[in-house]
Amino acid sequence: MKNNAQKAARLSVAPMMDWTDRHCRYLHRLLSNQALLYTEMVTAPALVRGGALHLLAHSDAEHPVALQLGGSDPVELAQAARLGAEAGYDEINLNCGCPSDRVQSGAFGAVLMTNPGLVAQCVAAMGEVVDVDVTVKCRIGVDEQDPEQVLPGFLDQIRSTGCRRVTIHARKAWLQGLSPKENRDIPPLDYDLVHRMKAEFPDLHISINGGIASLSEARLHLDRGLDGVMIGRAAYHQPSDILASADRDIFGTGEAQDPIDIVRQMLPYIDRHISQGGRLHEITRHMLGLFAGRPGARHWRRVLSEGAHKTGAGPELVEQALMRVAPITA
Ligand SMILES: Cc1cc2nc3c(=O)[nH]c(=O)nc-3n(C[C@H](O)[C@H](O)[C@H](O)COP(=O)(O)O)c2cc1C
Repeated sequence: MKNNAQKAARLSVAPMMDWTDRHCRYLHRLLSNQALLYTEMVTAPALVRGGALHLLAHSDAEHPVALQLGGSDPVELAQAARLGAEAGYDEINLNCGCPSDRVQSGAFGAVLMTNPGLVAQCVAAMGEVVDVDVTVKCRIGVDEQDPEQVLPGFLDQIRSTGCRRVTIHARKAWLQGLSPKENRDIPPLDYDLVHRMKAEFPDLHISINGGIASLSEARLHLDRGLDGVMIGRAAYHQPSDILASADRDIFGTGEAQDPIDIVRQMLPYIDRHISQGGRLHEITRHMLGLFAGRPGARHWRRVLSEGAHKTGAGPELVEQALMRVAPITA
């Protein structure tokens, strides 16, 4: 059965380079059965010209999972989208929000906000060759653009291709002078503009992104009428706070998970990874925040940060790290 990525998009974990790799997504999926997970950005040239198909590797357990592509050549993006759909991804997303230099020089990411016609061509070309949803992640504008002016035109162009779902990071990107990290914090957030876009484009499924730090904040946006909320850094750093009760609190199904149980469920996965020549640290680096704010969290972090990269480290180190984490008392 085809996974319903749109339903899952009520709450999604943002694409984050170096963070939302397959191990991270496996963990997040154990925490929430329902939320939509995004890959790190994979560039179309890497897949199509570089043949780097290993970048598409993922586990069946991750669904619903969306592949984020970077690129600006419609033909190449269509080829990459086809590869992604063939690899089993439930959605193909085009990155129009990433401001990093490397990405700008390839003329993709946030710089595409200045060329909505090209974005429309890309999205149309991708949509023609795949059956799964093609979606866009964008900013509200870049540089000197006036978001009130450009964002409606941008969304209108995307919609004209048949694309029905978009995630808006509710701040501008400055293409010169700010680092990618600064571009995630310094340009001010304008949530109201995103809400106005939903009123103006009621037939578009619109998710809001940027600075959302809790499920209760996410609920406020959903209650005000947005279709979805995407959470990045908070989901990564405090995965239990954001994801362990998301099924119950956002999707109205299932029970809240105890992260201690999730750690135990990770052990066979860790075992398998290590027996295939992988390192413990490659998985546990995504697990450090699991007990944030809970007694024993410091011990958990310390044992794993100090020991998991050492040769021979395995599941027993995880058990040792868990020793001081207090069980949740009812
Ligand atoms: C480490 C890191 C890597 C990121 N990589 C990507 C990326 O590959 N593609 C993308 O569209 N956005 C990327 N982003 C931006 C996030 O998807 C998200 O839009 C941003 O962090 C704002 O959401 P937040 O405040 O909930 O974190 C990245 C963010 C971080 C922190």
